[in-house]
Amino acid sequence: MSRATNQPQIVILDPISLEAVDKLRKSFEVVDLSSRQRAEQLQALATADCIIVRSRTKVNRELFDGAPKLKVVARAGVGLDNVDTKEAESRSIRVLSTPHAPTTSVAELVLGFMIALARGIGKGDRGIRNGRWLKSELEGSELFGKVLGVIGYGRIGSAVGKLGSCLEMRPLGWDILGPKVVTAPATYTEVNDMLGQADFITLHVPLTDETRRMVNARFLGKMKKTAYIVNASRGEVVDEDALYDALKNGTIAGAALDVFASEPYTGRLRELDNVILTPHVGASTQEAQRRSASDLAEQIERWFEGSR
Ligand code: MLT
Repeated sequence: MSRATNQPQIVILDPISLEAVDKLRKSFEVVDLSSRQRAEQLQALATADCIIVRSRTKVNRELFDGAPKLKVVARAGVGLDNVDTKEAESRSIRVLSTPHAPTTSVAELVLGFMIALARGIGKGDRGIRNGRWLKSELEGSELFGKVLGVIGYGRIGSAVGKLGSCLEMRPLGWDILGPKVVTAPATYTEVNDMLGQADFITLHVPLTDETRRMVNARFLGKMKKTAYIVNASRGEVVDEDALYDALKNGTIAGAALDVFASEPYTGRLRELDNVILTPHVGASTQEAQRRSASDLAEQIERWFEGSR
């Protein structure tokens, strides 16, 4: 790509809030390729000093090889599993992210999922659209007094625990960092104990070798038959085939998934009525996106100021 300016070049590979992009245009040459396919994006990175991504773009060796001038990977959002951080480090490329920005939005989505699961909102909506009035099939339950198991008690997990306790749910929390991070209103509980007690399980762990497919047939088999599971963390934390079987056989009552092992999701969970599926929208609120993009823009500006 030929350059008309000496300003550092930022290439946007996934859509982010436009306000922050406008701000960045004052000090950077900004090229927005967020609507392009990966092959076209990769061909345009030869002069990129910085790329901006969300969760869609795989920032891997293939991408780095096509971006010899790259100094900064700016990831809008919390998860870094789509960024090969080791490879970035070995090439002295700085990785920035905005882990605080989506907390409230994801926690509120989880609360919405729990209410929707407990009341059959998705099923009732689909019924009416298909000419069926399912009133007699949709006797739900309240969240009040129910046990809420939160696996991963970091920023988002603890926000879900607090929201649950506002509805007088009883939050239990587990975290890899141990009891010290599981604070009131939650009670620290080992996962196996939690699975036997919880009416809702919600996952808030990063994707690591330990958490990949942690929700498998054994895990689901330990849950109560009446319980629901919610995943708004990373798709690969759940073994989707095992979840399909558990939902179909009545091992658990229902599930809500915002994230999938492969996105866009086209798998067979779509056949089932007791699962709610959304297209990875946990962080997709105006507020979270504005926060995320403006925080990222500030970090990018600071980094380039420091390196000039
Ligand atoms: C996150 O990690 O914050 C989200 O998955 C970002 C996104 O929605 O792309």
